[in-house]
Amino acid sequence: MCGIVGYVGNKIAKDYLLDGLETLEYRGYDSAGIATLEGDTIRATKVVGRVEQLRKEEGQNPHVGSVGIGHTRWATHGGVVTKNAHPHHDMNEEFFVVHNGIIENYEEIKSFLLSKGYSFYSDTDTEVVPNLIAYHYSKTNNVTTAFQAALETLRGAYALTMITTHEPESLYVAKLSSPLAIGVADDELLVGSDALPIASRTQDVVFLEDGEMAVLNQEGYKILDIETKKSIERATEFIEIEEADGGLRGFDDFMSKEINEAPATVRSAMLGRLRVEEKLIKLGGLELVEEQLRYIDRIVVVACGTSYYAGLVGEYLLEEIAGIPVEVQQASEFRYRTEPLSRSTAVLVVSQSGETADTIAALKKLDGSGILTLGIVNAPGSTLARMTDAGVYCHAGPEKAVASTKAFVSQVTVFLLIALHLSKTYKDYEKIINELDTLPQLMEEVLKNSTDIKKLAEKYSDSKDFLYIGRRYSFPLALEGALKLKEISYIHAEGFAAGEMKHGPLALIDENFPTFAYALSSDINEKTISNMQEIKTRGGKIIAVVDDKNSNAAKLADDYILIPKVSEQLQPLIGALPAFLFAYYAAKKLGRDIDKPRNLAKSVTVE
Ligand code: G6P
Repeated sequence: MCGIVGYVGNKIAKDYLLDGLETLEYRGYDSAGIATLEGDTIRATKVVGRVEQLRKEEGQNPHVGSVGIGHTRWATHGGVVTKNAHPHHDMNEEFFVVHNGIIENYEEIKSFLLSKGYSFYSDTDTEVVPNLIAYHYSKTNNVTTAFQAALETLRGAYALTMITTHEPESLYVAKLSSPLAIGVADDELLVGSDALPIASRTQDVVFLEDGEMAVLNQEGYKILDIETKKSIERATEFIEIEEADGGLRGFDDFMSKEINEAPATVRSAMLGRLRVEEKLIKLGGLELVEEQLRYIDRIVVVACGTSYYAGLVGEYLLEEIAGIPVEVQQASEFRYRTEPLSRSTAVLVVSQSGETADTIAALKKLDGSGILTLGIVNAPGSTLARMTDAGVYCHAGPEKAVASTKAFVSQVTVFLLIALHLSKTYKDYEKIINELDTLPQLMEEVLKNSTDIKKLAEKYSDSKDFLYIGRRYSFPLALEGALKLKEISYIHAEGFAAGEMKHGPLALIDENFPTFAYALSSDINEKTISNMQEIKTRGGKIIAVVDDKNSNAAKLADDYILIPKVSEQLQPLIGALPAFLFAYYAAKKLGRDIDKPRNLAKSVTVE
């Protein structure tokens, strides 16, 4: 999962390449590189580290060419060292390629090329591609034919961009399973793994489909079907992209900025949709499928990571409020599962980026099935937004920190809106609508009191392990809280349904294994308090999230975090904040790279 860019036009390529790579760093950030045509040769600059380092390195010897490619890497094959950073070239340095995806049959291709006398310098799967193109070029003397022939051999997933000394005015691109967009501006064509880097120059975009390649030059772009070699006419579409807000606005990092944007995110997700006076939820994105929705009697929610946990909250909401049976599946499982789905089932994908490989593959599996597909997506114009039949955008704005926070909150808000929209007879319908309207203010109160959470996080930051527990609506919060802590602080953390404690996790508890317990008001809170008691009895320390400081939970806990009391269905929105802040401050105390934690990427574009 890497970010790729390409440029052909009448300006200096590297300006777009470097800016574009910065926008795409959410796809990976362990190394970066660019290559441009400089006279008769191609020159590459590569670094281990961030695009910022690449800029510095490039500044020592600036690239001036106006045709080029660039890459920001998240390593799959081969360690994080300069020789494995992209762009990769053939042994004669005539074909340079950047690649997002995995070439599954690279070993086979490599053996073949070795037998033909080709040599290799890196440990990557990608390096076979420029050499295979070079091999076919040696046979045909035609770049288009060579590129096409090489692509026909590749198995796996790729978005590829290539430049060559044999056709110095052209840029070649191809796609199979990994997204690729071409921006068409005056006097220049811009390539990106998605439309985000392109948006700074143009909003007229063409998306390649699987099995297609294109040749780009000053005259324009020509799309070809790789297999049939037939040319394909495709006009540009105008893409609405929310301008990336590059600034930290005084925050130390994007994660704290985004946590603090959570109340605004909820407002924005509700804007124009929550009609308090009319006691109505209006969801324009679902209007087209309103009729079909009436016949839906089951929803399968499919997502990854934090979006999956938002889906688990959605399950409770849709089942209780809308009365529709829901099942939530991880996209990586759903895509390979043999499961009968009836036509009265809708599949609802949830994704911040709209570019997660497994979630895209899950939707592809449904091609031609007639199943209604819906999306809760944050990134407008993204692959998933375009693939679904209908959906509701989150409108959370760009999220930059790898750990998802405001997107989770917006996804849960959208689930709540959909549940209310689909509900016919829910007893607390009006109550929830009224409460939702004032919820952002209550969320702001939690953020104002973040100093107390900071002190607690610092106090517990030397723990090696953490348990998170909760019941019903707080159960997904426990899972999400544990994920947040492990991904940014690297403290081992597990989330469990409080009722499952006795089935294993309790064995872990001692004075060094603290528990973060959600003990918010509900008719079953006493059950959670009993579980807390069992932990205390075994010497475990407890931090409880409570909404009543006189509750038994607050009394029992070693420390507690007090949040405003709301209806249980709204608790995940406000209850997520203490877990986000706790993880954030623990990671900060430990000196972690908060926005770009080790080994992770914002958008997982390979499976
Ligand atoms: C990565 C991110 C997570 C995110 C997950 C799913 O793991 O680091 O924050 O929840 O991908 O991404 P999506 O964009 O589909 O929500």
